[in-house]
Amino acid sequence: MSDPTTRSAPLPIVEKPRLTVVGTGYLGATHAICMAVLGYEVMGVDVDVAKVEALAAGTVPFYEPGLPEKLREALDSGRLTFTTDFDAAAEFGDVHFICVGTPQTPGSMAADMRYVDSAFGELAKRITRKALLVGKSTVPIGTASRLTELVQSLSPLGAELELAWNPEFLREGFAVQDTMHPDRLVFGVQSEWAERQLSAAFAPVLEEGTPLVVADLATSELVKVAANSFLATKISFINAMAEVCETTGADVNLLAQSLSYDSRIGGRFLKPGLGFGGGCLPKDIRAFAHRADELGVGQAVSFLKEVDSINNRRRVRTVDLIREMVGGDLAGKRIACLGAAFKPNSDDVRDAPALDVARMLYLEGATVTVYDPEANENAHRLYPDLTYASSMMACVVDADAVALLTEWQVFRDADPDDLAQLVRHRRVVDGRHALDADDYRAKGWEFRALGRPAQSRTVALASDLRDEVTV
Ligand code: UDX
Repeated sequence: MSDPTTRSAPLPIVEKPRLTVVGTGYLGATHAICMAVLGYEVMGVDVDVAKVEALAAGTVPFYEPGLPEKLREALDSGRLTFTTDFDAAAEFGDVHFICVGTPQTPGSMAADMRYVDSAFGELAKRITRKALLVGKSTVPIGTASRLTELVQSLSPLGAELELAWNPEFLREGFAVQDTMHPDRLVFGVQSEWAERQLSAAFAPVLEEGTPLVVADLATSELVKVAANSFLATKISFINAMAEVCETTGADVNLLAQSLSYDSRIGGRFLKPGLGFGGGCLPKDIRAFAHRADELGVGQAVSFLKEVDSINNRRRVRTVDLIREMVGGDLAGKRIACLGAAFKPNSDDVRDAPALDVARMLYLEGATVTVYDPEANENAHRLYPDLTYASSMMACVVDADAVALLTEWQVFRDADPDDLAQLVRHRRVVDGRHALDADDYRAKGWEFRALGRPAQSRTVALASDLRDEVTV
C-alpha cells in the first residue's frame, strides 16, 4: 500500500472493471445508475424482487430529483442490469460494491450489521476469480478488518479475495451530483492492486481532478462517521445557541448570519430550526458513540450524546411553541403540519423531525393534519393515525395554528393572505426559519419561530445559510 497521502493524480489505470452493486436502496441504486452512465458495465443486485423489477423497468422506487432520467439513460445504454442472483453477480464482477443499509438496532444505539455481513458472505463464498469487494456502507470502526477475515475464510480464493472501503458522502436531493462529481474520494485499501482497481473503477471521476485520499481501512471507516458527526455538531451548536436566545431575547437568525461571515466558521450547516433527521446523521452519531464506548474511547466523543439531546429538544420546543400559541392546551385544537419529510426535495421520513412533531401534537390530543408534497405516502405508512391532506390549502382549512416543519419551496412561496382565507386563526410557527415574518405579521398573523423573540423581524439570510435547504 502506498503512503496514506492526498493525491491529485491517480496511479495509472489498468482496465475498465465490470462492477456489481449489492443493495439497491438509496445509496446503491444511485451508485449503480451513475456508474453505468459514466460508461461502466454494472449489475445491480438485491434480495428484494420488487425493487429489482421496478429498477429494471425504469422506475426509481424513491424520490430523488434527476435520478429517473439517469436510470432511463443507463438502461438505454445496455450497460445496466439488475438481478437477485448472487451466482450471476459473483461471476460478473471485477469490483463489487456493497451498499446495503446499517440501520439502528432496535432497542440499542448500535448499528445493525446483519445486512452487511450477509452481503459480503453471500458474495465471498461464490467468488472464484481475483476480485475486489468494496464496502460503501457506513459501519462501526473495525468492521472492514473483521470482514476481511470473514470473506477470506469463506471464499474458495482465500487471501486472493481482497477487501477495500470507499465511504460515500452523498446527500439526498443532490445524490446524482454528489455521486458523479463528489468533492473527494477516499480509498481504504490493503494493497497497491486494490488501489489500482479502485482507481480504474472511478477513472472518469478522478480525471475531473477530484481529490483522492488513499488510506488504511480504519481511517476510511472513520472519515464517514467523523464527517457526519461534525455536520450534526454544527447544526446542534447553532440550535443550542437558539436555546440561549430563547431565554435572553436574542435572535438566533441574526446570530447565525453574523457568525457565517467569519470564513473560519462559515454558514453551511449553521441553519437553526427543528434540527437534523434522516437515515444518516441521527443513527450515525449514535452508532459512533456506542462503538467508541466499546473501544474504550467513549469519553472522546461523549459530546455526541449532547448533540443528539440538543437536536431532540428542538422537536419538544416546537410543540411547546405551538401549545403556547393556541392558549396552553392542545387537546381538540386543529393543527396544520406543513411537511413530513426530514428535509425538502426528499420523500424520506426516517427520523424526520417534522413527523415527530406531528406525532407529539397528536399524542397531546390535537387534531393533526399533515401535508407533504412527496412524503405523504411514506408518512402514512409510519403513522396511519394522523390525517393526511392532498394539498397545502386543504391542510390548513380551519386550523387553529399552522406549523411549517419542512421547508419545501411551495410553503415558502405561499401567500399569507390566501392561507388566511382558510384557517380559523392566523397563527403560524416557523420551525425552519423559512417564512417571511414581516409579511405574515403585516397580513395579520401571529408569527413565532424557534430561537427568535416574538416580535423579531425578517432576516435576509446569507446565501450559504440558505443553500443546504433549497435546490
Ligand atoms: C447527510 C450528509 O450530509 C451526507 O454527507 C451523508 O452521506 C448522509 O447524511 P442527508 O441525510 O441527505 O446527508 O441530509 P443533509 O442534507 O445532511 O441534512 C440532514 C438534516 O440536517 C436535515 O434534516 C436538514 O433539515 C438538517 N439541517 C441541515 C439543519 O437543520 N440545518 C442545516 O444547516 C443543515
